[in-house]
This record gives sequence, structure tokens and C-alpha cells, in this order.
Amino acid sequence: MVDFRFYAPTEVVFGKESEEHLVEMVRKYGGRKLLLHYGGHSAERSGLLGSVREKLNEAGLPFVELGGVKPNPRLSLVHEGIELCRKENVDFILAVGGGSVIDSSKAIAYGMKYDGDVWDIYARKYVPTETLPVGCILTIPAAGSEMSDSSVITKEEGDLKIGYSNNLCRPKFAIMNPVRTFTLPPYQTACGATDIMMHTMERYFGKADDMTLIDNIAEALMRTVKNCVFHVLRNPEDYRNRANIMWASSLGHNDLTGDRGYSDFATHQLEHELSAMFDVAHGAGLAAIWPSWARYVHKENVARFVRFAVNVMDVPNDFTDPEATAMAGIEAIERFYRAIGMPTNIPELIGRELTEDEIKELARKCSHDDGRTIGGFKVLDKNDMTEIYKMANKQ
Ligand code: NZQ
Ligand code: ZN
Repeated sequence: MVDFRFYAPTEVVFGKESEEHLVEMVRKYGGRKLLLHYGGHSAERSGLLGSVREKLNEAGLPFVELGGVKPNPRLSLVHEGIELCRKENVDFILAVGGGSVIDSSKAIAYGMKYDGDVWDIYARKYVPTETLPVGCILTIPAAGSEMSDSSVITKEEGDLKIGYSNNLCRPKFAIMNPVRTFTLPPYQTACGATDIMMHTMERYFGKADDMTLIDNIAEALMRTVKNCVFHVLRNPEDYRNRANIMWASSLGHNDLTGDRGYSDFATHQLEHELSAMFDVAHGAGLAAIWPSWARYVHKENVARFVRFAVNVMDVPNDFTDPEATAMAGIEAIERFYRAIGMPTNIPELIGRELTEDEIKELARKCSHDDGRTIGGFKVLDKNDMTEIYKMANKQ
């Protein structure tokens, strides 16, 4: 087994009664004046925000509010949040929502402890040494930000979507009530399932070998999500399957299924450029890229693709032809994506083909002007990125 570190400090309160522990959690982690940060309308409509306000008011915990976080959260709102928190002497950020709200909260938390522009942190010009504490009430299982060390922010100017990872920003607590996910539309449910599986796939198709225990955990997680998603698409109020997906969201990205140092994450990097340029849902963007990435890189380790095909996608093993089994696994996940309403290529994602100039621009940005490579399973340079975007551009 490879050497690794595992750090998962977030206290998880899971289940139907979890929200009852909100005030106790805020107090435990030192919150005295809160920013209540949230997205569009879903948490208001479901009554969750009303119930949070009531609990904080009853406990005499003062708070200010900032809503309006959009999927692919924007830097301008982060700036607004930092200004508000400074003015109001906020010392704790409570995120109510999904990855976008939690990531925006993490960015505000960084910005509160840095005198310069918080974007410097994402642009790798400044390494933060402290941050305000963040706690969250998760409403969509997908990004895994509730336990992860990452936040991904979009700077409107130049459509730059950049992630930054640092253990400092892992939330202090995550309250997860699967009932709150009953209201998710089918598309968001499917995007979430795709992202959860992908966080594990990015690690599974990494560069480490001899990961018997981790591989077995990873396969169980991927199979679980793959099966549960059909149940919740049929019956959105299926608690058991919603609960399994919700917990998989956290375990898929808290490094239980593999240390990120040994992982790939090229599909994520390629996707971030798509959601920056076209403002698409992250999970759908991943589904549009992965099959092309997989076909492009599979020769690096055909045996791993065979294992994925057989153990995760239930493809019969043709022992005489590993290449055919590997390909059948990729085709099986394309069928899975179609069955849950996800795209399998870029035209299905954005409704048209990319132009040549757009492909060039995506590869330019993803390669940081030809200044970096991505991936671990196969290291990809700008030319490889261009080829994968081209492959994904075919229906
Ligand atoms: O804004 P509202 O009205 O709340 O609607 C949201 C939003 O439109 C809706 N929604 C959330 N909970 C709901 C609900 N609708 C009905 N009922 C509920 N219970 O769902 C939509 C999507 O929400 P969002 O937070 O954007 O989804 P997700 O959790 O997928 O987050 C996506 C963002 O996370 C980043 C992505 O790049 C993207 O920007 N990621 C963050 C990661 C991290 N921090 O570790 C890792 C990921 O790989 C990912 O890159
Ligand atoms: Zn993701």
C-alpha cells in the first residue's frame, strides 16, 4: 500500500433529527455571530431556512444573511460576503445548501483572514494560514464539499473557474438530513450521483497500485450510488436510498476512497473549463467528458478498466479479450448516464458542437497557457486536452 495521510475532521450529524443539533454544533465550534449563507430559492421553499432562523433566534445567536449563491459560485458574491462579515463582525459561516454554497462560504472564510483580494488564494499568489470556521447544512449530495478540503470559485472576468484545496477549509460540522433531498429535481439528483461516483472514479483510476482495501471500498461506493439513483429517480421520497446517496457524497470525497496525491482528477479539470465557459451543471459536464477521457487513456492500464467494467458496471469478463471488456465497461457507463438523463458528450451537454476556437480556448485555459499538465493515470498536456475535447465533441 502507498503511504498516505487521512484527515477528516468534520463532525457529521446525520439523519432525520440532525437539524435539531444545529445550535449545539455552532456553539461547540465557537460561533457567536453568524453569516447565514444560502443559494436561490430551494432552501426557502422547503422551509429549511425558516426553521434555521427560528432555531438561531430562539437560542439568541445573532446572524446576518446573504443569499443568492449561484451554481458555479461567483467571486463577486464572495467579495460581498467578506465585506458584510467584516462590517458585522461575523465569526462563523453557516452554509445552507450544496457544493456551491459551501464553496462560497469557504472562500468568504478565507477572505476574512486575508487583507488582500481573496482571489489571490485561488490564483496561487497567497497561501492562507488561517480561516473563519465554516459549518454546513447539506441539501444536495454531490460535490462532497461538506467534508472536503476544496472550494471552487468562478471569477466572472475571464470566466475563470479555479479550485483551491487546503485542510484549513474542511467544515467543522456537516448536518445531513436526507429528507431535505426529497425536493431535488431529477436532473440535479442525477448530476449529484454522477459527481459522487466521479470523485471515487478519479481516485480509482489513479497511479497507485496495491490498494486492495481502498479499491473494495471504492467499488462498493460506486455500485451503491449506481443502484440507489434509480430508486430515488422513481420515488424521490425514498428515504433509504436518498440516505445512502447522501453519505456516499461525503465518503466519496473525504479521501476514504483514496489519497488525492495518487489520484487522477483530469476529468474534473477538463470539466471545470466547460462549466466556466457554458455555466453547465458540474455533474453533467463530467458525464460529457469521462467516456472520451477513458477511451483516450485506457491503454495505460487496461486491467484497471477491466476491473471497473466487471466489478462496478457488471460487464461479463471476456478473459480472451481484455480490451473488449474494458471498452464494454465504458459503453456500460454511457448507457447508465443516458438512463439517468445525463449527457455522454459535449453536444448533448450544451446543445451544439464546440467550434474549433472554443476547443482551443478550453485547452488553453485548462493547460494554463501550456504551463501545466493534468492527470495521474496518464499525464495530459495541452495537445492531449485538445484531443479529448475533440473526442467529446462528437455525438
Ligand atoms: O440555489 P438553490 O435554489 O438552492 O438550488 C440549487 C441549485 O440550483 C439546487 N438545490 C440544492 N439543494 C436542493 C436544490 N433543489 C431542490 N431541493 C434541494 N434540497 O441544486 C442546484 C445545484 O446546487 P449546487 O450547490 O450548485 O450543486 P453541487 O453540490 O453539485 O455543487 C456544484 C459546485 O461544486 C463544485 C462544482 O464545480 C460546482 O461549482 N465542486 C466542489 C467540490 C468541493 N468543494 O470539494 C468538488 C467537486 O468536484 C466540484 O468541483
Ligand atoms: Zn466533482
